[in-house]
Amino acid sequence: VEQTYIMIKPDGVQRGLVGEIISRFERKGFKLTGLKLFQCPKELAEEHYKDLQSKPFFPKLIDYITSGPVAWEGVGVVASARKLIGATNPLNAEPGTIRGDLAVQTGRNVVHGSDSPDNGKREIGEFFPGLAQVVE
Ligand code: GTP
Ligand code: MG
Repeated sequence: VEQTYIMIKPDGVQRGLVGEIISRFERKGFKLTGLKLFQCPKELAEEHYKDLQSKPFFPKLIDYITSGPVAWEGVGVVASARKLIGATNPLNAEPGTIRGDLAVQTGRNVVHGSDSPDNGKREIGEFFPGLAQVVE
């Protein structure tokens, strides 16, 4: 079973969009296999975005991700979830996508989705210890 790791970012939680975003994945037909609400520790945020460590916006990104509670959801199918989410810059995201409909700033783009099946598996392992094995 392919799995993706979806993160509703702090702005999405603060703006009351958790239900709306979960609903989109459910209506698409993906199965919700795990859900967690917590504030992301700094170390985990840095690990999660370690590929972007050298970027000038990295400190801002870590502040953003750790700024409030984050909802984490495990669903299926990586590429399709990325399509539902839309482009990184919400101004370039198509209408009908989550970022296209619900956001305007790259630095406040509401949601994260794993970018490959391998990363989906890895991220679920990091945020939901034990879950990947149960679903397989
Ligand atoms: P994620 O699903 O969060 O991984 O987004 P993505 O895969 O669409 O984009 P990417 O992995 O390249 O960047 C990760 C996150 O860093 C983005 O979603 C943004 O929140 C943030 N980010 C990327 N580029 C910029 C930027 O130029 N400025 C700021 N402030 N944040 C950025
Ligand atoms: Mg990414």
